[in-house]
Amino acid sequence: MTSNCQLPTPNYPPVSTRTIALIGSNGMLATMVKQKIPARYVVHQYDLPDFDIADAHQVRQALSGLRPDLIINCAAFTRVDLCESQQQTAFDVNGLGPGFLAEVAHDIAAVLIHLSTDFVFDGKKNTPYLEDDPAYPLSVYGQSKLAGEQAIINSPLQQYYIIRTSWLYGPGGPNFVETIARLATERDELGIVADQYGTPTYSGDLAEAIVGLVTSREASPPYGLYHFSNQGECSWYEFACEIVSQLRKKGCPVKAQRIQPIRTEDYPVPAKRPRYSVLSKEKYRRATGADIPEWKDSLGKYFDNRV
Ligand SMILES: NC(=O)c1ccc[n+]([C@@H]2O[C@H](COP(=O)([O-])OP(=O)(O)OC[C@H]3O[C@@H](n4cnc5c(N)ncnc54)[C@H](OP(=O)(O)O)[C@@H]3O)[C@@H](O)[C@H]2O)c1
Repeated sequence: MTSNCQLPTPNYPPVSTRTIALIGSNGMLATMVKQKIPARYVVHQYDLPDFDIADAHQVRQALSGLRPDLIINCAAFTRVDLCESQQQTAFDVNGLGPGFLAEVAHDIAAVLIHLSTDFVFDGKKNTPYLEDDPAYPLSVYGQSKLAGEQAIINSPLQQYYIIRTSWLYGPGGPNFVETIARLATERDELGIVADQYGTPTYSGDLAEAIVGLVTSREASPPYGLYHFSNQGECSWYEFACEIVSQLRKKGCPVKAQRIQPIRTEDYPVPAKRPRYSVLSKEKYRRATGADIPEWKDSLGKYFDNRV
């Protein structure tokens, strides 16, 4: 018996490996981005002290050598109050650095994803901020982040996503949730600012949104500026109450008996914060069709996975 068992020659193209340069790779958001990037991508990580986003020469040398398909910039000088006394560093890292990335991204035809902040707004609105609302930052941090957005927008690069987010928390970084969780085990009473409103954002949800923008097998949304946070809004006081309540429900030891609402004036800090900085996610939702989780649900998800 003879058989012709010659296999047909595949006529589909080989799967090509795509390369991502992840900048600020040791930070809180980058920690989650690394977890969400599909295995078919090769991720190269860049952070201080070996890589300084504010060093134009180093940025060009590293990225034009690698020629990544995507650059995800999670690097920033994020200590909002310290920015007030270290203005030069704030503007170098948050303002100039993104522009250096954009120039190289243009030259090597890479897509750039960059993160920005609700602190570009002055908080005088009472309804969620749209992407094209005028930005009037109140702090050096906000001004430097706005300068970073403008450096990208004014560069020759067209293929970019700038994503503004707010009140970020997650594994791998100091953040409000961890601060309240610690204080609630140490103190009988907490005083938390109750006259600033925004939306908490779980880094896991933001990382999924970022990665989804560029790795979806469907067409990517149009390039440009987007807002992303969790859904809903609250004050820092309400956020703290929810953190403590969820910790109690999980059986964590909580010492704090009372959480007192206080005014911004009662908690003086160097940098001025917006009174209201809720971001509208309508543009992101329309472009992606994605559902955005409610902030309380995402806080629960964070606590479920917290070690
Ligand atoms: N955290 C928030 O509440 C919040 C809210 C709105 C928007 N955002 C934005 O979201 C993004 C991610 O924030 P995140 O909280 O994940 O920040 P993060 O935890 O502070 O991480 C930033 C990373 O960038 C690194 N970095 C700082 N300066 C650098 C430089 N010159 N060159 C290279 N790397 C540098 C940091 O290193 P070192 O730790 O050694 O400095 C750190 O590893 C940022 O763009 C931030 O502005 C954050």
